[in-house]
Amino acid sequence: MPVPLLDLKAQHATIRDEVLGALTTLIDDQLFILGEPVERLERLIAALSHTRHAIGCANGTDAILLAMRALDIGRGDEVVTTPFTFFATAGTIHNVGATPVFVDIEPRSFNISPAAAAAAVTSRTKAIIPVDLFGQMAPIEEVRARIPTLPIIEDAAQSIGASRVIDGRKVMAGEGVTIGTFSFFPSKNLGGYGDGGMIVTQDDELATRLRRLRVHGGARTYYHDEVGYNSRLDALQAVVLAAKLPHLSHWSAGRRANAAYYSSNLADVPEVTVPWVDPANESIFNQYTIRVPRRDALQTYLKERGIGSSIYYPLPLHLQPCFAYLGYQAGQCPESEKAAGEVLSLPIYPELTSAQLDEVVGTVRAFFGR
Ligand SMILES: Cc1ncc(COP(=O)(O)O)c(C=O)c1O
Repeated sequence: MPVPLLDLKAQHATIRDEVLGALTTLIDDQLFILGEPVERLERLIAALSHTRHAIGCANGTDAILLAMRALDIGRGDEVVTTPFTFFATAGTIHNVGATPVFVDIEPRSFNISPAAAAAAVTSRTKAIIPVDLFGQMAPIEEVRARIPTLPIIEDAAQSIGASRVIDGRKVMAGEGVTIGTFSFFPSKNLGGYGDGGMIVTQDDELATRLRRLRVHGGARTYYHDEVGYNSRLDALQAVVLAAKLPHLSHWSAGRRANAAYYSSNLADVPEVTVPWVDPANESIFNQYTIRVPRRDALQTYLKERGIGSSIYYPLPLHLQPCFAYLGYQAGQCPESEKAAGEVLSLPIYPELTSAQLDEVVGTVRAFFGR
């Protein structure tokens, strides 16, 4: 039985009429750039994230880039982040002219180690970028406690709608930091029909600056206070995302249920380490990532049996050729390097049938002879 890593058609089939209805209205209105459809989505995402402001932009990469620009991060500055993430987290640091400083992860959660982040701070450090990897929030309160004076940009590209209990209160992804950034890449839990991104903040001044930066740095058309970017969210994406948003919490709950099923049926396989979720967290399981020996052989075995999987991420960022100029050596972020050799993400989307879940479980077990 085929089990793709992700089946966007299965999800589209469940919301086709709603999405096409919203798109038809928009096309009839001929409102394509920013405007009321984007403002409506911004209000909805701000409400979800418990933030005062949400600012739509072209993609999740730009969201991080704009966040750093709004914080005046540039040449000569350092930004501390994790090497075990999608490239955009660090590519944007380079692209604003700053220096990425990579520190290792906590092996169980794959998220940045707050102690390692604190140890890497210098007089040039201007921000910390923790990433909520695979849908589980990073321990932002620990980062803040250790580094109270620096802004935190939470790369929440993979964690929209995730939460973490901090001081007895449920805090949403993006809520408890200086700036939070989301991606609406189609494979995210809330995915558009193309690229899209969003920035959230509680800070009025940062919000004003971010709104300006996404339209070439001018608050008034044709008058430019600073040089910004063309990073607008398409209204077409905004109406698709607004139509999908009411389903997000039950889709994420479906992913959690699938994760629980996998974990309870794989936990007794000694070779398999199932994902660990910090008890303070409610993960949205953008990915379900196991650690295994003979990972590449398992992936081939699954592929031969029609089961999709993926390696997020095979080479940590401190060892990427493009960052050779930073001078990192293998062994400097050992937990990230170890994870890169062991991780495998399995299909976790909410539309998986129980037969498909059993197929994945049975095939992983068979590979290890269990
Ligand atoms: C952790 C992380 N950061 C940033 C991004 C960049 O988002 P986008 O692809 O929308 O530019 C992604 C997603 O692709 C991501 O997973």
